[in-house]
Amino acid sequence: KLRLHNGRTAYHFQPAKNWQNDPNGPLYHNGVYHLFFQYNPHGPLFDTGKLSWGHSVSGDLVNWAALDTALDPTDPFDVSGCWSGSATVLPGDRPAFLYTGKDTGRVQVQNVAFAKNPLDPLLREWEKPSCNPIIPIPADVTHNNFRDPSTAWLGRDGLWRVVIAAEVNGVGSALIYRSADFLRWERNAAPLHSSPQQPLGTTLECPDFFPVAEHGSEALDTSANGTGVRHVLKLSELSTHHDFYMVGRYDDLEDTFSPEERELGDDCRSWRFLDYGQAYAAKSFFDARRNRRVQWAWVHEYDSRADDVAKGWSGIQTFPRKVWLDGDGKQLLQWPVDEIETLRTKRVGLQGTVVKAGGLHEIVGIASSQADVEVVFEIPNLEEAAECFDPDWLDPKKLCREKGAAFLQGGVGPFGLLVMASGDLQEQTAVFFRVFKYQGKYKVFMCTDLTRSSTKAEVSKNAYGGFVDVDIEKDKSISLRTLIDHSVIESFGGGGRSCITTRVYPEHAASSNSHLYVFNNGSGMVNVSKLEAWEMATATVNVADADLDAL
Ligand code: FRU
Repeated sequence: KLRLHNGRTAYHFQPAKNWQNDPNGPLYHNGVYHLFFQYNPHGPLFDTGKLSWGHSVSGDLVNWAALDTALDPTDPFDVSGCWSGSATVLPGDRPAFLYTGKDTGRVQVQNVAFAKNPLDPLLREWEKPSCNPIIPIPADVTHNNFRDPSTAWLGRDGLWRVVIAAEVNGVGSALIYRSADFLRWERNAAPLHSSPQQPLGTTLECPDFFPVAEHGSEALDTSANGTGVRHVLKLSELSTHHDFYMVGRYDDLEDTFSPEERELGDDCRSWRFLDYGQAYAAKSFFDARRNRRVQWAWVHEYDSRADDVAKGWSGIQTFPRKVWLDGDGKQLLQWPVDEIETLRTKRVGLQGTVVKAGGLHEIVGIASSQADVEVVFEIPNLEEAAECFDPDWLDPKKLCREKGAAFLQGGVGPFGLLVMASGDLQEQTAVFFRVFKYQGKYKVFMCTDLTRSSTKAEVSKNAYGGFVDVDIEKDKSISLRTLIDHSVIESFGGGGRSCITTRVYPEHAASSNSHLYVFNNGSGMVNVSKLEAWEMATATVNVADADLDAL
């Protein structure tokens, strides 16, 4: 087994060594889960021209076995890099990839590849037909901004559709292409989406487009449409390094998307955040085995390049999340897939513990650098204690900077968890809520504050946060789930309505245990009505001796 050091994670997906970024082509096929990913087989740093598709397989989305790379930059249409793309299962159970290649002139083009033997349960070999590229660069698209085809879906007319990110005449767009045979593709005149150019242009990447049921958490195959179906358009935006999404209605005849929350505007940067933290380039797939939609996302390193070279690796994936539509028809819910519970070992808990103003309560009895924590906070005196909200803080980044700080005293909150804390609290990462009163309603703010996460100088230590869209006046409580895994903290606020994923590099972790606390820096008290914290076992993730027969 690999020793956990330098922030290596115990139950998050990462290759044994080297660089990884975006999840590519996630797929469930013949009883096996596949994850492909942007991978540099030659070292721990990003190298645009060298990217391959790494490939791992799993029986449970928790334990993974590494296989050889599935795509390598060996052909004129991808020789400068096999970039991101997606998998589609064609009729007759034939898995196919659509992916971006950078060609001999480093121009971005779209390619197709087919599983050489669809009956091989491990789908080890992939063939690139000689008709590639199947979509060359259009004249009005910038040569280096045409990429990341989505999973394809079928319209009522029997034609395949795919959405591709493109800069069209300088405008960040999501283009639709149609095909009858998956080889010859034709662009629809109208883009599915375009973000306005002003005041600052967007660079769009990694579109994900999928149906969700209007009611309930069961998922739909990517081609589903009709009554009771909504669609989600997710876009990654390079300049902000965030993923944004919008729920809407999709017309498969015109190939148009009508946003549900038109008031948020056309610029995807004002849509809902998929994750307020450092997760990026998310991609989902329909998991027919458990009838759910599962989403992956890349989380970059935020230490120095020198650290990455010393570690020999860079980049992890979020723990796979089930995603579905909230009853409000506007927001997604995200939750770690149930299989995570197979890793839960020792459990400790609290019930009905009051945390007074300024209180700090340690959760002892588990190794908390590898943990899964679920907690419900009750707020008995919401009305008296909530401070008034200044509309100036509507920008969550500003709120984080000015009001977010876990260490300033507030009214209702900051309260939450202190994780990956050293014994002397010199190092600590706060995951917390703060509730404000605004125009007769309450606004719940959630934040992960990294400013004290490490005593090391060369790591980035921002505070990340945003609002949680819950009815706290009715609930009088809010839930928080936090996955802690050495260098990653993934938090789910309000039942998965707001997520914050961040990386941390505390120095104490090399030589001593980390501590976990519940804290309250508000002037009103909070009641931990329930807390359960589990120590997590180490999953088998891409270690050399993985047993493929055990899948
Ligand atoms: C997103 C991205 C994609 C591109 C890939 C290259 O992180 O920039 O747009 O295909 O990474 O590795």
